[in-house]
Amino acid sequence: MNANQQLILDLIRDVPDWPKPGVVFKDITPLLADPRGFAAAVDELVALAPGPIDIVVGMEARGFIFAAPVALKLGAGFVPVRKPGKLPGKVHEQSFALEYGHETLTIHTDALWPGARVMVIDDVLATGGTVGATAALIKGQGAELVHVAVLMELGFLEGRGRLVELGAGTLSAVVTV
Ligand code: PRP
Ligand code: MG
Repeated sequence: MNANQQLILDLIRDVPDWPKPGVVFKDITPLLADPRGFAAAVDELVALAPGPIDIVVGMEARGFIFAAPVALKLGAGFVPVRKPGKLPGKVHEQSFALEYGHETLTIHTDALWPGARVMVIDDVLATGGTVGATAALIKGQGAELVHVAVLMELGFLEGRGRLVELGAGTLSAVVTV
């Protein structure tokens, strides 16, 4: 483990019994509030890019926090994947089961283009539902999903295996908890 990874782990706060009894929530707000920690998280995500990237896709809401600065550092554009009713243009939709219920994600139909090299950035990989749906939205536009990078992988939830089943492509995490 490098110094950035250790710093990131030190700044993620465990919140027991939230949002429901028995769940330990991994709270990134102390990490975001720490300039060195936030910079370390962005730098580590940037380092996971496998080559030139045209577009970084981030998912509402916490994915936006990391995807936007990663896009700037990579010299890439940023495309938001949003929850329903938020994007003003024509959208494609993809529904999936989330850890705590169901969710639908949307993307503008003209956000990507065939052959675009796309990297997905989110804060957490849990069940893989969010990344899986996002991968489907990206591939639906003929773009090339070159890599998925998350700050934190909840290893015990086996989201990575689900993504392999979905054909969502390669994934790496800055830290696994
Ligand atoms: C959280 C988290 C990831 C997702 C991971 O998003 O930010 O996007 O869950 O879970 P999964 O792998 O089981 O899909 P959520 O939509 O709950 O909240 P947010 O709007 O704060 O990002
Ligand atoms: Mg999220």
